[in-house]
Order: sequence, then C-alpha cells, then structure tokens
Amino acid sequence: MPQNAEPISRERLLEMMTAFKATYLLRTAVELKVFDALAPGPADPDDVAAILRLDPRGTRVLLRALAAAGLLRADGERFTLPEGARELLVSDSPQYCGGITRVAASDAEWDSMRDLADIVRHGGTMLDTHAGSPGFGYWVDFAAHLTFATRPGAEFVADEILPWAKDRDTLDVLDVGCGHGLFGFTLAQGDPRARVSALDWPGVLEEARRHADRLGVDRQVDYLPGDAFTTELDRRYDVILLGNFLFQFSARRCVELVRRLAGHLKPGGRLVVVGFTTGDRPPASEYHAHMLNLLMLAWTTDGELHSPAMYRKILASAGLTGVETAERPGLPLRMVTGHRV
Ligand SMILES: C[S@@+](CC[C@H](N)C(=O)[O-])C[C@H]1O[C@@H](n2cnc3c(N)ncnc32)[C@H](O)[C@@H]1O
Repeated sequence: MPQNAEPISRERLLEMMTAFKATYLLRTAVELKVFDALAPGPADPDDVAAILRLDPRGTRVLLRALAAAGLLRADGERFTLPEGARELLVSDSPQYCGGITRVAASDAEWDSMRDLADIVRHGGTMLDTHAGSPGFGYWVDFAAHLTFATRPGAEFVADEILPWAKDRDTLDVLDVGCGHGLFGFTLAQGDPRARVSALDWPGVLEEARRHADRLGVDRQVDYLPGDAFTTELDRRYDVILLGNFLFQFSARRCVELVRRLAGHLKPGGRLVVVGFTTGDRPPASEYHAHMLNLLMLAWTTDGELHSPAMYRKILASAGLTGVETAERPGLPLRMVTGHRV
C-alpha cells in the first residue's frame, strides 16, 4: 500500500472513496465461486450463470466488472482466469487465499469502519461483544483462515527459537491467544520434543485443533480454553509466545499479563512478543499497522498498538533480562524477547 509521499490529488481521493467497491467485488466473486466456475476454461456469462445457478443478467454485469478490475480477462463475452487466479482464488488450490475475505473483507470489519466517526467520538469500542469477549466470532474466522498470511511470521519466530532451544532439556511452549496456533505449531514441526499448550477461547481452539491435525502436530499439543489473564497455568514453560496479542490491551494491562506469565517461565526461558507495532517510524511506512490500530480502537476498551520501546519496557518491568527487538526485512512484524534469569 502507498508510501503516501505523493501530493494529494483528486485521483488519489477518488480511488480511496471507491476502494470499497473493489473489496465487495472480490468478496462477492469468492462467495459465489466465480473463479472455481472458470477454472476448467473460458466461459460466457450464461455458462457461468448456469454452473453457479445465478441470474444471467447479474452474472454478466458481475463478470464485466471483475474484468474491469483485472480479476478476470475478457475476450468479447468469453471470460478466463488471469495469471495468479488459479493459484490464489480457485478454492482447491493449496495457495488459496479467498477465505481471507471472511476476515479482511468481513462484515465485522466493515461495520466498524462504517461507524468510525462515532467510535472516534466515543474513544473505544461501542460493541457489547468485542475483541476481548469470549464469543467474538471474528476471531474464529481469523483462526480458520489466516494461516496463509501468518506463515512467514511463524518461520521468523521459529528461526530465532529453534537453534536456541537445542541446548535446553525440554521445549515446553505456551502460545497465548494462539488463534490458528501457527506460531506454536511451527515450533512443534521444527522440534519433535516440543510440547505446545495452546491457549485461547474454546471456539477458537476448535479451529486451532483442525490446523494442528492438518500440520501433523496434534499429538504435541494440548489445549487451554479460557482467558489469558485468569486461566490456571499449572506448569512452567521454556517459551511463552504472545503473537499479535498484546495490542488488544493498554500498556498497564500488558504489564499485568506479562508479569503473570513471566512467573511461569522456567529458569533461562524466553518470553516472545511478536506482532505489528507502531510509534517509532513515520505512519506512512506502517500503513497496515495503523489500519489495524483503527480496529483495536473499534473493538477494544483500551487496546492500542504499542511501540517496540514500550514492549521492551513491559518485559523489563516483569523482571525479564536481555530484552531485545528483532526484525526481518520484508516482514511488517517485530519480535521483542526477554529471558527469565
Ligand atoms: C489477533 S489474534 C492473534 C492470533 C495469533 N496468535 C496470531 O498471531 O495470528 C488475537 C487472539 O487473541 C485471542 N484473545 C483475545 N482476548 C483473549 C483473552 N482474554 N484470553 C485468551 N485469548 C484471547 C482471540 O480469540 C484471538 O484468537
């Protein structure tokens, strides 16, 4: 997305004003399985309407709009998939990412953006069931569909932790707010000794369990349903992961949680915070982080993306030592780690 150094122009403003139409066009095509219908080869709108049981007029208008947006190729009234669509948008492809529309182009996100002015006036969530509630359905969809986007971040953490863990007798991992579970499961795939405790709300853990099965690590995983702030932890861990978790809370709440978790690290164990950060770079270079911050404003009472410096302070205040920040070129996430003496 834009680096935003360009001057404001009518064209840029109009693009922003109409961007939601492209969002809904893509979402609709995925929902109706238009890309699946065109996977076998070129077809005209009547063919596609018949395959998908849609209205012919509606289908013609939709296919032409998809071609206008570059999501299909048109040769007269024959439509085909452009390069990349087979891999990314046909639902039987291993690289399929159409399911991410259930999250990134979801009603939950749209409703928040639609009410943004009121939310800004109010200064926090206006929802009864929000990101900190056990029944927030968005987190279930996030856990179901966001593994594709999380893989590079999970590999970043694994590359940091696995070489270090080789010298330890055990690799007991607690993944707090695990969602899909990919951060912990990637450690489990990389080291057969790893035992992962995946903590999240019960509905989310059902999705995590499905991913653990699919990735072949289910036997290395146990599940801790409940609230990260209060769920009883009866063990100590070599690694405690907080992936994209702490920005749902104020710095004060983060200190409270990190202190509690630090008490469950084994001697020499590491606490790992990984996720989007803001605050130490110009906003224009952290576009996605600031868009996420709008969601945290809309969905939490006091959550906000914190800076790497703030995370270092939070870890140090919990008595952790050797606190440092790491990043990887091309990855928008930062990792802040600290050790228990
Ligand atoms: C942004 S997702 C992060 C998922 C995953 N760790 C990742 O990095 O992609 C935040 C997760 O925190 C969970 N969560 C939010 N508040 C929680 C709480 N108080 N206790 C346990 N889990 C919570 C949500 O259900 C959701 O799965």
